[in-house]
Amino acid sequence: MISKTSSDANWWRQAVVYQIYPRSFSDANGDGIGDLEGITAKVPYLAALGIDAVWLSPFYPSPLLDGGYDVADYRDVDPRIGTLAEFDTMMAAFKQENIEVIVDIVPNHTSHDHEWFRAAIQSKPGSMERDRYIFRDGLGPNKDQPPTDWQSIFGGNAWSPSGQNDGQFYYHMFDSSQPDLNWDKDEIKEDFKKTLRFWGDRGVAGFRIDVAHALTKDLSGDLPNWEQMVIMSKKKGENGNADLKHPTDDRDEVHEIYREWRKVFNEYDPPLTAVAECWVAPDRKHLYSAADGLGQAFSFDMLTCNFSAAEFKECISFSLESAAEGTGQTWVLSNHDVIRHASRYGMPNFVSKNHKEMWIEAVAWLKNGFEGLDKESGLRRARAATMMLFGLPGSTYIYQGEELGLYESTDISDSQRQDPSYFRTKNAKVHEIGRDGCRVPLPWEAEAPNFGFGSGKEPHLPQTSWMKEHSVDLLDKRPDSTLNLYRKALNLRKTLQTAERLEWVETGNEEVLHFKRPGGWEVVLNGGKKAVPMPKGKVLLRSGGTSDTEIEGESCVWLQN
Ligand code: GLC
Ligand code: CA
Repeated sequence: MISKTSSDANWWRQAVVYQIYPRSFSDANGDGIGDLEGITAKVPYLAALGIDAVWLSPFYPSPLLDGGYDVADYRDVDPRIGTLAEFDTMMAAFKQENIEVIVDIVPNHTSHDHEWFRAAIQSKPGSMERDRYIFRDGLGPNKDQPPTDWQSIFGGNAWSPSGQNDGQFYYHMFDSSQPDLNWDKDEIKEDFKKTLRFWGDRGVAGFRIDVAHALTKDLSGDLPNWEQMVIMSKKKGENGNADLKHPTDDRDEVHEIYREWRKVFNEYDPPLTAVAECWVAPDRKHLYSAADGLGQAFSFDMLTCNFSAAEFKECISFSLESAAEGTGQTWVLSNHDVIRHASRYGMPNFVSKNHKEMWIEAVAWLKNGFEGLDKESGLRRARAATMMLFGLPGSTYIYQGEELGLYESTDISDSQRQDPSYFRTKNAKVHEIGRDGCRVPLPWEAEAPNFGFGSGKEPHLPQTSWMKEHSVDLLDKRPDSTLNLYRKALNLRKTLQTAERLEWVETGNEEVLHFKRPGGWEVVLNGGKKAVPMPKGKVLLRSGGTSDTEIEGESCVWLQN
């Protein structure tokens, strides 16, 4: 067994966590799929970057119908990605560099290949095997109509027939290969605790909890139709879910599960940590990050902001004010589910839209191949926003490749697509392109085959020619590259980040955001196009510009006073 690297029980509160999407990070055996050995080989790279922890997206056995978020066995490694022994080797390599490891737990649903679901399909309606999932009788004389008209998040109806001609359907919030578990059952609760301990005993420091807001459901009584559900979700976004009983989302009972998990986390010294992926109204987020629950929850509202100082300031203030005692802040601008922020911020007329509409616009814009993308401004803004984020109190999550200034890839042909939302929305009003564009394997060496991702087969998603210019070996040599900006910022942050306090400085300019941190550290973001006067202080780091007297447009500076 490998013990954790840090004896500080609060290490996670101010940590920078690097998200690895294992299949697209580094391919050691050349089969076109990133693997654990590839990750181990890149530990020195990650250590030099200055991160405190990595979060690994799922590497468990899976039919890969949703990039591994369709888990067939929670306590093993997919043979295409590695073995448990290779996992232990990887852990040891991270431990040597004092880098913590966080793994992804997917409790809302299993894969249809999980032994529980196979048993459920082979068992009779009403059996305890079926009761581990959410099976219901179909409607109509032949019971061949889905129990409700609910839509799956990836498109299409959220119910699929059992395939056994027994008139039953099972519920899947996501792909039909991802049946939702029935969290009323003690057996499920116990089994997940076993999974948490399995990885805890192998030395992981914590967990990222997939779809943390949806585990508990109430499908008893008369169910609302989809239109009513959509209205409920919107209202929930406005006033929280306090008296709205949405049957599947953000129900209060879910926190009972996390309070039980917290007890498991506390069996370890230091306690294990957790971060919730919860797409809930901002005023419900603190429930997930409660100290007796998961402890942290992603601030996704930051990620749906335009590149706008005023919007950023509003989100940051709200997040800090609504945090409950003991709660940790968790900032993020990119992950494996969203358009990379260097592309998002290069969207034409970006700032004119309000922040909720922005997201819908960005997805539509992705579909038409990012027409009018301003690559330069997109990257300039991404560097500035990231530097601002690194200046905030709390922990920050970065997504592999953002340190290389990568854009979303649009060069993926229809036959190469993998995202289930692409397949499930083919006949829908809006045919979604999906999330493959942010999951393309990383470029490590400009002149090597597959840009150094792996020396054998072509990567499982196609790399594009422009990625060459973003290769690690090229950026390494350029002092002002995005990679070197991340390295400088993260290594400097280690010396600057102290207490979890922030004080706003009034700038008298909506486009300029300025805050102070303890110890004389100040962060100024100029969100406008025009340069603004440099406030007093020694410049520690800047995302752009060279003038001593001005902060250039769309840039961020760190000052010391
Ligand atoms: C989460 C994951 C996403 C996945 C979904 C279903 O949102 O981040 O990648 O598709 O859950 O598991
Ligand atoms: Ca491989």
